[in-house]
Amino acid sequence: MDLGFYAGQVVVVTGAGAGIGREMAVRLGRAGAKAVLVDVDEGRVGEVAGEIRDASGRALAMVADAADPDRMNEVAGETVREFGGVDVLINNAGRLFYGGVAESDMADFETAMRANFGAAVASTRAFLPHIVKSERGRIANLSSAYGLIGLAGAAPYTAAKFAVRGFTESLRSELRTHPNVAVSCVYPGGVKTGIAWSALAAAGIDARRAAERFDRQVARTQPGRAAEIILNGIARGHSRVLIGADAILADAVARVAGGQYERLLRLVIRG
Ligand SMILES: NC(=O)c1ccc[n+]([C@@H]2O[C@H](COP(=O)([O-])OP(=O)(O)OC[C@H]3O[C@@H](n4cnc5c(N)ncnc54)[C@H](O)[C@@H]3O)[C@@H](O)[C@H]2O)c1
Repeated sequence: MDLGFYAGQVVVVTGAGAGIGREMAVRLGRAGAKAVLVDVDEGRVGEVAGEIRDASGRALAMVADAADPDRMNEVAGETVREFGGVDVLINNAGRLFYGGVAESDMADFETAMRANFGAAVASTRAFLPHIVKSERGRIANLSSAYGLIGLAGAAPYTAAKFAVRGFTESLRSELRTHPNVAVSCVYPGGVKTGIAWSALAAAGIDARRAAERFDRQVARTQPGRAAEIILNGIARGHSRVLIGADAILADAVARVAGGQYERLLRLVIRG
């Protein structure tokens, strides 16, 4: 994989302390990017930045909640002061949420929405004025296969990831006047990270059982592989980046079967 696109570029990754974000950060450091790593977890984001610097890369660790607009404005300001501008923003921070419509109350929907949609919106709004000045700007938002199809048991998370998709598509259209900036929406299927274990859950949901099931049945792609596909897709300016056979299948059945995709999906999975 050639990540030459990123050499010398200022690249911000939210949720860079673990999982896919961490894998992207390490590769960006190796590719010669000026990496700005944002995470709520101070210890983990500091560790990743240290790893990059130990390998002679450039990295700035920022402790921030990506869904906090004021803090993200500060992070954008610090980034510009340190590196002179911003070229690439990867809104990767997000939290899984277990629970369907019946189990989840309004507060659950708001929580899942803030953790996923809110994080993409606050971060994008903070960095956008800087990215439009870049010669080769990029903004990428992490949706999910749950941003392509809706299945039982995950309505708040699914609604939030569909919102990320809608936000990203609207942003792409809005930025037509800035041909120097490409906007990507990323749809991972199951990726083997710790996301299942740090997930939020509605009251009464057995989160441990849900996490075990996620690890056993859903998480198939390695996070390093996911990171490579995402970074490649962003560099090439792809509008949609699908990760894993499960995401590709979800995308295909939603297109082919329209409103009947759930039935088709169950047939394919059983078949
Ligand atoms: N792992 C999967 O199977 C999968 C599938 C589809 C989509 N995704 C999406 O990919 C993204 C990354 O997932 P992952 O599996 O690497 O997750 P992860 O849980 O392994 O890592 C997420 C990192 O983001 C940080 N974080 C969470 N909320 C934050 C916030 N508001 N501000 C700053 N940092 C925050 C966490 O501290 C953690 O370091 C998420 O948006 C997730 O929804 C993951």
